[in-house]
Amino acid sequence: MTAEPTPQSQAAQRAARALFRRARLNRWLGRRRAALALCRQAVDRADYSRAYTLMSQLSLPGEDYFHVLARIHRHLRPRTYLEIGVSRGDSLECVLPQTQVLGIDPQPNLSKPPSANVRIYRETSDDFFAKHSAREELGGRPVELAFIDGMHHFEFALRDFVNVERAAARSAVILVHDCYPLDERTAQREQVTGFWSGDIWRLVLLLRERRPDLTVRTIATPPTGLGIVLNPDPSSRPLADNLEALIAEYLARDFSVLADRKPEALGLIENRWPVIRALLDQRPKS
Ligand SMILES: C[S@@+](CC[C@H](N)C(=O)[O-])C[C@H]1O[C@@H](n2cnc3c(N)ncnc32)[C@H](O)[C@@H]1O
Repeated sequence: MTAEPTPQSQAAQRAARALFRRARLNRWLGRRRAALALCRQAVDRADYSRAYTLMSQLSLPGEDYFHVLARIHRHLRPRTYLEIGVSRGDSLECVLPQTQVLGIDPQPNLSKPPSANVRIYRETSDDFFAKHSAREELGGRPVELAFIDGMHHFEFALRDFVNVERAAARSAVILVHDCYPLDERTAQREQVTGFWSGDIWRLVLLLRERRPDLTVRTIATPPTGLGIVLNPDPSSRPLADNLEALIAEYLARDFSVLADRKPEALGLIENRWPVIRALLDQRPKS
């Protein structure tokens, strides 16, 4: 429920808007650091999503995740694609007509009917993987490209990763949305800001620390980073066999573990297509 505006909250919104406008002007003048500092002051005054959006464009320059996702589809030309969390179908717009697609979402809200190559499962990802074999649904083929963008809590994303990896080809690429939080407030498990990434960063940390056999990076895409995992192993057990203990261990990790080392901890790579393409081309060929 949205709280009724009070005179104080309205004044805070006005102050945040004024700071945001100054930030925008500073960006236009090429003063990036000043613009970032003003955005920070704005969001400290009030929940002002436009300031967060500008902050993300300043911190994570380059194409947004839709454009990068579309480039990845065009480069890999996957035979199969699995997407968890389809919402209005915006990220599904990136798929190629020849790709066989499974989309999973308990409450899809597609802005137009899915095309013939797309099958939507109206259920949670946990229910989907409990009831179906993704490979069977794909006519016996493994998943070649996946995008995890469902429930934005670490333990859900971890289970999604384990289930997707089990169905994946060795050459598959697994993408995970919202891996690079801008700050602690937008990285909380409970959503207190309009602009929100949740605690998916914990999954990236875990994969980088506990699965050295994987290549795990975060592409610096606005608004909140795109995780990319290469070299999945469908027979791997360390995560699946220790799920509850790992969830407890990583939920206990405080956001402060990222302090001063967020880019290294989350494997940040530049959001430039030649860099992303070179990474993709390192994956094992099946
Ligand atoms: C951020 S939206 C997805 C946006 C979409 N991928 C895009 O980029 O256009 C997240 C979606 O995840 C769905 N979702 C929430 N919990 C889920 C779950 N347990 N399993 C699968 N999807 C879930 C929500 O219904 C929502 O539509």
